Amino acid sequence: APTPEQLEFERLIETDSRVEPTDWMPEAYRKTLIRQISQHAHSEIIGMQPEGNWITRAPSLKRKAILMAKVQDEAGHGLYLYSAAQTLGISRDAMYDQLLSGTAKYSSIFNYTTPTWADMGSIGWLVDGAAICNQVPLCRCSYGPYGRAMVRICKEESFHQRQGFEILLTLMRGTPEQQRMAQESVNRWYAPALMMFGPPDGESPNSQRSMAWKIKRFSNDELRQRFVDMLVPQAEVLGVTLPDPDIRWNEERGHYDFGVLDWDEFYEVLAGRGQANTVRLANRRAAHDDGAWVREAARAYAAREDADRST
Ligand code: 3HC
Repeated sequence: APTPEQLEFERLIETDSRVEPTDWMPEAYRKTLIRQISQHAHSEIIGMQPEGNWITRAPSLKRKAILMAKVQDEAGHGLYLYSAAQTLGISRDAMYDQLLSGTAKYSSIFNYTTPTWADMGSIGWLVDGAAICNQVPLCRCSYGPYGRAMVRICKEESFHQRQGFEILLTLMRGTPEQQRMAQESVNRWYAPALMMFGPPDGESPNSQRSMAWKIKRFSNDELRQRFVDMLVPQAEVLGVTLPDPDIRWNEERGHYDFGVLDWDEFYEVLAGRGQANTVRLANRRAAHDDGAWVREAARAYAAREDADRST
């Protein structure tokens, strides 16, 4: 028979209430949240690299300032999410070790390179746009610290999405060369952005349980469809062509049909064989090593503070 704690946990989930760190929870619930939230945090931190690549090369001081603010936001999202994961009993160092050792997953999208400035527009419009579709429902996640972290993150993501859209709009209103650069970038980022939502529902081992526990509110395919429905009219305003000849309005479904995605590419990227997996991890490891003195100094300072307090 279920224990009183199990019944209480079930009640919290049933009534759309929040499970808090001090509440009893099934070990599998704790584990899948540590899995998802730590991967989400890793994604934010690794996600700083593709865009950071253009901070020193932005075309104007204004674009540089906006891009710097955005990359700093991603760092903050990462710290928020690491802290949310720590409330489940995993240490920050353990999560860092998982990332640095190459065993942790992070979003496939950040293993793609950013060869042109237009990629800053595509990342904002497509990657942050997809992240918003995926993260707004997470504001209602049954685990309190994760859902609450999402509220602030989603507000900042909408600024990220808008500034990306505006970069592409500026380029599409520019010279033919700028238009070609914007279109070429959208051609590279469209399909990988759709893969951010995860594999098709039939190949998603975590979805069923995540949805039963109200961690995941909509399936991977549902959110992917919502994103495409949002993208098509925006692409028309931009004047860019989405690189998918199968996109067409389906009156019956009330949604846009779109083409099949290359899931072999997705699993190749997950296996570490994407365009930039190696360099992303190498950069992260170097940053960790270069930052060791800061961690040592902070620990020494904290120890001296403690010693001063106890005398
Ligand atoms: N990249 C890498 N791995 C992915 C992936 C992707 N795009 N999509 C799925 N996977 C992995 C899953 O982690 C899972 O592996 P695991 O069991 O070892 O963790 C496996 O593929 C099967 O996928 P499932 O659909 O069963 O997994 P989930 O139920 O966890 O769904 C998810 C995947 C929709 C990404 C979900 O984990 C999620 O919503 N995560 C939180 C949000 C997130 O991480 N968004 C992407 C980051 S982009 C971002 O935040 C930066 C933005 O600010 C620009």
